[in-house]
Amino acid sequence: MAPEGVAGVVLAAGKGTRMKSNLPKVLHAVCGIPMVEHVLQALADLGVLQPILVVGHQAEQVQTHLANAHVRYALQHEQKGTGHAVQQALPLLTDDVEHVLVLSGDTPLLTEKSLNAMLTSHVDSSAAITVASFHAPDPTGYGRIVRSKSGEFVSIVEQKDADPDTLAIQEVNGGLYCFQASALRRFLPELRPDNEQGELYLTDLIKMARDANQRVEAFTFSDGIELAGVNDRWQLAECAAVMRKRILRRHAESGVTIVDPASTYIDGRAALGRDVTVQPMTVIDGVTRVGERTEIGPNTRLIDCEVGSDCLIHMSHIARSKIGDRVRCGPFANLRPGTEIASDVKIGNFVEVKNSHLETGVSVSHLTYLGDADVGAYTNVGAGTITCNWDGFVKSRTTIGAGVFVGSNSTLVAPVNLGDGSFTAAGSVVTNDVPPDALAVGRSRQTNKEQWVNSWRQKRTKTDDGTQT
Ligand code: UD1
Ligand code: MG
Repeated sequence: MAPEGVAGVVLAAGKGTRMKSNLPKVLHAVCGIPMVEHVLQALADLGVLQPILVVGHQAEQVQTHLANAHVRYALQHEQKGTGHAVQQALPLLTDDVEHVLVLSGDTPLLTEKSLNAMLTSHVDSSAAITVASFHAPDPTGYGRIVRSKSGEFVSIVEQKDADPDTLAIQEVNGGLYCFQASALRRFLPELRPDNEQGELYLTDLIKMARDANQRVEAFTFSDGIELAGVNDRWQLAECAAVMRKRILRRHAESGVTIVDPASTYIDGRAALGRDVTVQPMTVIDGVTRVGERTEIGPNTRLIDCEVGSDCLIHMSHIARSKIGDRVRCGPFANLRPGTEIASDVKIGNFVEVKNSHLETGVSVSHLTYLGDADVGAYTNVGAGTITCNWDGFVKSRTTIGAGVFVGSNSTLVAPVNLGDGSFTAAGSVVTNDVPPDALAVGRSRQTNKEQWVNSWRQKRTKTDDGTQT
């Protein structure tokens, strides 16, 4: 369906009271992406450019968040109903607009495919209005699709205005519409708030169009899930569960092994290469990119990371970090923001790295903290090494050259430099720079006191008065 002459209007001015949140409802995320962005993406995929977003409650927050989005705004100062909301968009509809898609900002599961099918049906049938409907086993809260005895769609009656017979109808309004622009222009100004809620109902346009002998259609979605609107946190969680499965499936279809979909969470913005394996209980958050054949998990969380190919990342927590190819990481590694690791690096258990650069082939195998450090190629960092990067006032860097051997339990007091090829003796406290190829020993020399233990044992026995002292 060619989108020329098609405009999009997204309603997002409502209060979202039932979310019980300080964040505007449409900014609540589903798999990392705010609901309204899912809706805007579906429109963009359809080719509907520069949709009109009707904002009102917390408009500034919504606009600030969408600063880079290609949208136009209509401001609805007071929320007087869905019809009133669309009235605010009317002045922004240019003369070349023939059809208007109206959607809600809180229906994140809508797909371009369904929008396309509905729009095509709307145009082909020459209907003035086409409404998306679906069959709801529990229709509570939805407007009911009222049909004549012969099955013709005649009106929508809102829950609060419905009599018991109408309440029993299970075919409901999904809150997604295609309008001929001329129908909107003609009928919107005639809306009256003569209903239980004292609002201007967009849904009243159905009856008005029909009374004027115009054609109205209900386009039935076989699977109503796409029309699911989020009004509270539980519905948010339910939508996220559906979206999560879609995302996992998309990755599986493009060559990623998801060992256990039930315990795997992948953000909608993540990109994973071919033959990646995601082990159970793994969370991939934010804008994370992973190369090919890398194995992630079990029990791993990545947040806004770049990970190369052929890596093994297990039981680790990694945030805002870059990792090269063939890196082995974990179990139990904590890579904090600003960590950049080149290829062929090994990060072992109980290693924490923050704001540090590790060159090719570095090995940090056990129990280490590297904070604000630069580590040269093929350096070995012994177990228990600590960079003391914080003196209570400022953070300082530690520079470790290439081919360095940092002895176990070295305490590197920053700022300090270890030259290329240097060694530090195990247990050293290094406070001064170490020249290239030098050995730094920063600990007291060991002395052995011969037979000391025997005399100590005897002293203990001499003072014994029956009880051990
Ligand atoms: C609406 C429909 C109902 C349908 C249901 C589907 C009307 C009168 N009723 O009811 O038939 O079954 O959606 O989910 O349209 N909004 C504004 N300004 C307003 C009021 C609402 O922008 O003044 C926005 C809301 O932010 C929301 C959307 O319009 O995105 C729908 O509003 P909501 O209050 O949720 O309508 P429902 O009562 O769910
Ligand atoms: Mg709603």
